[in-house]
Amino acid sequence: MDLLKAIQERKSIRAFKPDPIPREKIEELLKLAINAPSAINLQPWEFVIVTGEERERLSRRLIKAYKEKQISCGPGNVKPMPKAVTKRGAKTLEQMNPLFEEMRVNPDQFINEGSCNFYGAPVVILICLDDSFPKSRLVDIGLILGYLLLAAHEYGLATCPIGLITAYEDEIKDVLNIPENKMVVIGVALGYPDPNSPINQFKSPRDHLENFLRWIE
Ligand SMILES: Cc1cc2nc3c(=O)[nH]c(=O)nc-3n(C[C@H](O)[C@H](O)[C@H](O)COP(=O)(O)O)c2cc1C
Repeated sequence: MDLLKAIQERKSIRAFKPDPIPREKIEELLKLAINAPSAINLQPWEFVIVTGEERERLSRRLIKAYKEKQISCGPGNVKPMPKAVTKRGAKTLEQMNPLFEEMRVNPDQFINEGSCNFYGAPVVILICLDDSFPKSRLVDIGLILGYLLLAAHEYGLATCPIGLITAYEDEIKDVLNIPENKMVVIGVALGYPDPNSPINQFKSPRDHLENFLRWIE
């Protein structure tokens, strides 16, 4: 598959088959992803790969934490967002709603509990960053995430980045024995898509290019 096709086709998947992924395949995938660039080639990313019973244990703990703390998926903005940005989020949800109706699920519950359960994916990859780095190194983590998502698509695997779980970082560190000085930046649900789930038909829209541009000539 060529890169342009992978970029156009990739999308977040929110219902996975339970079929496991061989460890060699996960390693091959990560080997490809670590070709991502990073400042001064520091390659600051660290991966924690969770499968099997440990992954179930992690989900159980996250769902429990979600039910107790009720921190939901959201932009995490620290002041009101620009209107255009708010509209993009609303439009995405609006387009997802008929699928939630078809599935007879509560959208908030589906997204929040689903995220805490990695939508049933058999593999969870947590991307971590040592706390010795400044915030600017999060750019490197964003890049490796992008490479990972595209490489997974190339391998016929489906993904969903899961940012919500970072709200429950203490619980994650506790259940997986992740040292205090490691920041859990993002999780990735990895597996094979469930072709029968309506939500997997969803392809999120994008705003027009001109709305992102300001030419200075
Ligand atoms: C940093 C980041 C965090 C995300 N966190 C979540 C999440 O917690 N739960 C979820 O269902 N989707 C999550 N997503 C997926 C986005 O909702 C998705 O990428 C967006 O709607 C665009 O859709 P697409 O990936 O299908 O192109 C996250 C994506 C990114 C990049």
